[in-house]
Amino acid sequence: MSATYEDAYASSLSDPDAFWLEAAGAVDWIERPQSGWTEGRGWFADGTLNTCYNAVDRHVAAGRGKDIAVIYESPVTGTRQQIDFDTLLERVSLTAGMLKNLGIAKGDRVIIYMPMIPETLFAMLACARIGAIHSVVFGGFAAPELAKRIDDAAPRALLTASCGIEGGRILPYKPLVDHALALASHRIEHVVLLQRPQCVAELVPGRDHDWTESYETAGPAACVPVAATDPLYILYTSGTTGTPKGVVRQNGGHAVALAWSMRHIYGAQAGETFWAASDVGWVVGHSYIVYGPLIAGCTTLLFEGKPVGTPDAGTFWRTITAHRVDIFFTAPTAIRAIRKEDPEGRFIQDIGTGRLRAMFLAGERADPDTLLWAEQQLDIPVIDHWWQTELGWPAVATCLGLGDRRRRAGSAGFPVPGFRFAVLDDDGAPVAPGASGHMVIGTPLPPGCYSSLWNNVEGYGRAFQSFAGHYESGDAGHVDDDGFVHIMGRTDDIINVAGHRLSTGQIEQIIATHPAIAECAVIGADDQLKGMIPLAFAVVKSGVNAAEELSGEIISLVREELGPVAALKQVVIVNALPKTRSGKILRAAIRGLANGRDVGTPPTIENPGALAAIAASLQVRLNPHST
Ligand code: COA
Ligand code: AMP
Repeated sequence: MSATYEDAYASSLSDPDAFWLEAAGAVDWIERPQSGWTEGRGWFADGTLNTCYNAVDRHVAAGRGKDIAVIYESPVTGTRQQIDFDTLLERVSLTAGMLKNLGIAKGDRVIIYMPMIPETLFAMLACARIGAIHSVVFGGFAAPELAKRIDDAAPRALLTASCGIEGGRILPYKPLVDHALALASHRIEHVVLLQRPQCVAELVPGRDHDWTESYETAGPAACVPVAATDPLYILYTSGTTGTPKGVVRQNGGHAVALAWSMRHIYGAQAGETFWAASDVGWVVGHSYIVYGPLIAGCTTLLFEGKPVGTPDAGTFWRTITAHRVDIFFTAPTAIRAIRKEDPEGRFIQDIGTGRLRAMFLAGERADPDTLLWAEQQLDIPVIDHWWQTELGWPAVATCLGLGDRRRRAGSAGFPVPGFRFAVLDDDGAPVAPGASGHMVIGTPLPPGCYSSLWNNVEGYGRAFQSFAGHYESGDAGHVDDDGFVHIMGRTDDIINVAGHRLSTGQIEQIIATHPAIAECAVIGADDQLKGMIPLAFAVVKSGVNAAEELSGEIISLVREELGPVAALKQVVIVNALPKTRSGKILRAAIRGLANGRDVGTPPTIENPGALAAIAASLQVRLNPHST
């Protein structure tokens, strides 16, 4: 493998097949692939492997059975556990056996709606072991969202636990699961529920199984060979409509890309400890809590807690020092939350950061102020890097493992080897350095990126339509004179709230179902803690009184339909929404106002008074003369 970032980038683009076939050597194959990219099929189409074998069994076979594979650190339950590779193999094999006893086999879908506990990780690996396709659903989504995923993935089984724990609150999962199952048209054969001591759930006879009983009566299941192009998982993410997109990840490319990234981006070696403080419900959790570190033979840390309040803003540093974490990954929001509680960094000074080498940030833009504060406090490289659920692993980063240490606050670094990165204008022409444009990636995308959208061929195709030969990321940005990539925000209606990806279009659809609402617009407003928060503007139907409790009703509706993660806290009732003459809502102008910018009156506006009224309600200035 090439030694420097420049060499690696150049060779990854000049001969991608050769580059990735060499990288494929870091994975144990049943049939080692001879082919790189095959149009219409994916990467390593003639290869067979098992992802779970690569994450677990092979480390035991290599004599590392007594090395720690998983650390479970749960300040919310006061639990700390270390699980070695021998034990991990036993737990995963038996969990796989439990699934097999229920008739789950290769290609079957399994929904996992579970909190941040070791059994969730066992369940994901168990699915991979028997070739079943898992679809993990984030705990912060409400029952209708879970139901949508059940209907789309058509799973045979749903795995869950009796509760999640959010800070100090116990959140019973079973009522939510039962509600989702009632809403869904697809009938699930088996629900397997893990009873946690904090909350006991009622089981439905015939359909529901007690996890512990099923597990204890199961025998170990062996790894099933799967084609490199067989799906490992489906992960739903927000699109621009109310229907989530089921991102499909293939086994082979995923294993190769993650192995490569662990070593060359993060610079992590087998035996080191890697902690991604995210949630297994998000892509970061899939790639860098579960699969990446384990495939690379690292110890992974599973953290059930929050950056603050569990118990305080020192919890990250305490965990890092207690477990000798080498590489740490979190979202900028988490650092902002810590800084808010501990602006002087007293916890960091008191506790230290042990042998931590670097901290990586992603999930949303890392504002320079936060990044520089962290770097000053921690005295190690703090590296912003950019990626998406669709891509599965970082596409723009500083590749620490390739010896690169160049950083510039406000930039996510440089294109990662394998990603033929470009910034294009609306007509598809490359823009000059410094000029903003659409961030796109040349096709074929490297291994590990999504291969399709589940049940949605057209949706997948749309991402490759606007710019010939390129994948459209949906982000806008620029490359500066020194080649640093700066990602500035989305070009569509997706927003990132505390690192959680949401669609404003979806929130609008939910609000529009309220009987009093005629129409509405939801935009992302800048927020000092969460980066962005949704802000809704709603018009009531004529003849309906905008009662005081209306805003509260709308907030509750969004919470019930989408989930608490939507974090909608403010609804502004207005007489009209600003529109163009052709009836399009001027969301960009509203967004500008909400974010305190002195926006002009767009020349195409039909009803300038509506914009002025919004400006007045937000107490910002509207300049009628500028455009
Ligand atoms: N299960 C159930 N509910 C969840 C949940 C989960 N897994 N995750 C979040 N929620 C709920 C929260 O309890 C909260 O509910 P509330 O409105 O009843 O209080 C709501 O969803 C919003 O959650 P969040 O945005 O996380 O806000 P918060 O106030 O609870 O915490 C931070 C604020 C900054 C501590 C938190 O946002 C955080 O840790 N951010 C980092 C995010 C991150 O790591 N993202 C991963 C992307 S890489
Ligand atoms: P998700 O699919 O949930 O990982 O969200 C992906 C989106 O988050 C991207 O399209 C970006 O809009 C945003 N994002 C992720 N990482 C970064 C980053 N480092 N800088 C700016 N935006 C980011």
